[in-house]
Amino acid sequence: MRRFYQEGWQGIVFTAFTHLSFFRLASSKFYATFYEELFKRYGSWNDLPSAWRENKEQDAKWVAGEIVQQRSQYPEDDGDVCRVLSIGSGVGFMEKVLLELIPDMELHVNEPSTAGMRWLRQIIPNDRIYIGSPLLCLPPDISYNVIYLSTVDYSIPTRELVRLLEALGAQLKPGGKIVCLSASLLEEESLIGSFVNGVKIIIRCLLHYTGLRRQQFWGWRRTRDEYRDLFQKASLAGVDDGFVDDMFSTYFIKGGHVHPLDEERTLVAEAVQQEEALYNAIGSQEHTA
Ligand SMILES: C[S@@+](CC[C@H](N)C(=O)[O-])C[C@H]1O[C@@H](n2cnc3c(N)ncnc32)[C@H](O)[C@@H]1O
Repeated sequence: MRRFYQEGWQGIVFTAFTHLSFFRLASSKFYATFYEELFKRYGSWNDLPSAWRENKEQDAKWVAGEIVQQRSQYPEDDGDVCRVLSIGSGVGFMEKVLLELIPDMELHVNEPSTAGMRWLRQIIPNDRIYIGSPLLCLPPDISYNVIYLSTVDYSIPTRELVRLLEALGAQLKPGGKIVCLSASLLEEESLIGSFVNGVKIIIRCLLHYTGLRRQQFWGWRRTRDEYRDLFQKASLAGVDDGFVDDMFSTYFIKGGHVHPLDEERTLVAEAVQQEEALYNAIGSQEHTA
């Protein structure tokens, strides 16, 4: 796991609108002020940088594929709708694309502050918008087919993230899954790598405090093993990870709770295997006799 820093985002330099901290994570107020700046420069989703949109569109298509797959694997039997939750949805571009791709799903969104929701409010009803820390603001009695976090985990300390994933896991429907997309994957850690990174951080710190190059502590890069460990600690089953076929080969990891149907299927498969083994054993005894 490695700390990383950011000087700007979406073409907006942070020092232009706020004070930066080298040691404290960007707060919800920081993101809110950032989104206010972003809305001054961009009038709608379509004005955002095209390369960024293209990549996010590919990610949204990938998430849509996950939703469709989950839905077809465990069809609703009680007339319930397909319900999806996005944690840390930001300006909601992926959510807009997702709703275009699967218009009949019920999309719920979460974001720590209300500022970023300006555009999303036009397409998502108020009672599906949860403002605040997910653990504090999500209604506990609503369950989801899929919950996704797209490039959000970097900003959450590990222990908090495990707690969050665990709590979100409890809000999945049977067979539901949590999907995490990360643009901050860290190649495997090495001793030399960590040392070089430590030196770079000291230099960055000097540059920050001398005012030559101010930077905001943005969060943590995590390795694949660390992501798997997070999912395991959060008691999520059937974990799978890999890369999305988008412009930046975004890393994904997903996991969920075992569906009663899957448990049944496993039991049947085991029983068939045992029966086959017994049958073969009897067959070979008869053959020898
Ligand atoms: C890089 S943006 C990603 C936005 C969007 N999901 C996307 O993929 O374009 C990260 C977002 O996570 C939100 N965020 C930061 N910490 C969070 C937390 N603890 N819980 C939920 N969201 C958080 C930020 O406010 C910000 O909007």
